[in-house]
Amino acid sequence: TWTPDHFVDSAVTALQNTIGPDDQVILGLSGGVDSSVAALLLHRAIGPRLHGIFVDNGLLRQDEFATVLKAYEGLGLNVTGVNAAPEFYAALSGLTDPEAKRKAIGRTFIEVFDREAQKVQGARWLAQGTIYPDVIESVSVHGSSVTIKSHHNVGGLPEKMNLKIVEPLRMLFKDEVREVGAALGLPGEILNRHPFPGPGLGIRILGDITPEKVDLLQRADGVFINLLKEHNLYEHVWQAGAMLLPIQSVGVMGDERTYERVVALRAVTSVDGMTADWAHLPYEFLAEVSNKIINQVRGINRVVYDISSKPPATIEWE
Ligand code: XMP
Repeated sequence: TWTPDHFVDSAVTALQNTIGPDDQVILGLSGGVDSSVAALLLHRAIGPRLHGIFVDNGLLRQDEFATVLKAYEGLGLNVTGVNAAPEFYAALSGLTDPEAKRKAIGRTFIEVFDREAQKVQGARWLAQGTIYPDVIESVSVHGSSVTIKSHHNVGGLPEKMNLKIVEPLRMLFKDEVREVGAALGLPGEILNRHPFPGPGLGIRILGDITPEKVDLLQRADGVFINLLKEHNLYEHVWQAGAMLLPIQSVGVMGDERTYERVVALRAVTSVDGMTADWAHLPYEFLAEVSNKIINQVRGINRVVYDISSKPPATIEWE
């Protein structure tokens, strides 16, 4: 029978047999469960010869980069944090089309990652946190033009650097990945984290991206996510987040008329993200989130809740 401990033992042995004694391995860390578990497994097999690269694309959640980097360091991982936010903002400047934004983010990620990876002497392997559903997904035909996880495909790099691919989680389903992560001591804050798209807040800010908009959305999203956690609702929804809409609407604050931005809250229940239902969050909870956002985040005067299911709507707005 499959147990996480057996899996860890046999995967560690297999990795030690496959990866040469002087080989260095590079892995892109995202803060997500899959790449984090892959890192812990490789770290157990080869220690500091695993070189994790964690890129701050400026499109992560509030405090995410610092918090997650600290967690990685606490786990003893050999990881380099790269602050590349200005590069991503420059690449995104003026872009409004969702696919154009995805491409710009993906391209910039490869440039930054490539540059960091070149600094690792003796690199022979590129590790990836690919899991079984990703393997299936990449061979099945999608009805839409959206290539899920295109961001994580560091295309070109393996050939260019003459790297071989190692994917230790290739045969695992998500729940198994979580069990393996728990067996390896991954903290709950990473283990139970909601899925988060590679292009991050870049596809949750409708229209063009500016650092100011990122800051607004990070704060609104932070209020929403923190309250979900405080009310023990976080673990009952599959994914949640806030979207910054490209419109302003009229409001009133004191005796002043305001003309400010709208935030849409999205929370869904799902098994695999392929279909999803909007989460029936309590009205009192939604009221608290709305009040707190509007009171605390200057520049937002209206909050709406997305009550669309997938299909026909998607989880992300872009
Ligand atoms: P949709 O919006 O298609 O999202 O219902 C389904 C799941 O995929 C995530 N998603 C992405 N993940 N790169 C990613 O890595 C992307 O471009 C991307 N687009 C959507 C989304 O967050 C949800 O979990």
